[in-house]
Amino acid sequence: MAGRVIAIDGPAASGKSTVARSVASAVGFLFVSSGHFYRALAWGTVVEGIPDEKLNDWVTESPLTVEDKENTISLLLDGKDATPHLSDPEVAAKVSQIATFPCMRDFVNSRLHALAEERDLVMEGRDIGSVVFPATPWKFYLDASPEERARRRARQGDEDPIAERDRLDSTRVTAPLVIPEGSIVIDTTHLSLEQVVDAVIARLGNIEPLNP
Ligand code: CDP
Repeated sequence: MAGRVIAIDGPAASGKSTVARSVASAVGFLFVSSGHFYRALAWGTVVEGIPDEKLNDWVTESPLTVEDKENTISLLLDGKDATPHLSDPEVAAKVSQIATFPCMRDFVNSRLHALAEERDLVMEGRDIGSVVFPATPWKFYLDASPEERARRRARQGDEDPIAERDRLDSTRVTAPLVIPEGSIVIDTTHLSLEQVVDAVIARLGNIEPLNP
């Protein structure tokens, strides 16, 4: 890995993406949601009707491409921007199931590693500090009570089976959701966004902010 990676993991609706975006903008790193990759792939399998037994072939010739423009990552499927579809109910219902397949994880991990070759990143997900970038010295695990996480997701107005996703994410064989070794655990249940962001930034130590 050529760039630096700040890894932020945690269960669904624990605040990872909002916190990761704010930290990224504070330190001048690129924000990357690894979940968006799984969601874009899930959208592709829904749209194209790919059965589980064809996932390996499909992802090997994957129509998913990554566009890194103006400090934002866009994921294109057959050239079409997947962004408007990432929170579709069919995608939320399918994503954790397709994320159990090693072929899907290998595909996403290769794209995440390629990004880290080029850029400093704040990357959020389920296995960033444990599997994808285990050597990074900046690892955080955000958590919140299940009730608070359900409230947060409901406030966003999305139909999202977070309890079922958490169950699949924590029990799968390949790269299950765990607290990565050496990570700083932050319980965000009673904290504001600003408090969590400040707590993360305070622990970054020797990272030079590019936009102080
Ligand atoms: O925003 P939220 O935490 O609810 O979900 P997300 O980060 O968009 O991730 C959606 C799903 O993708 C997760 O529930 C996992 O099944 C999968 N995922 C994964 O397996 N590994 C990652 N590094 C990131 C996401």
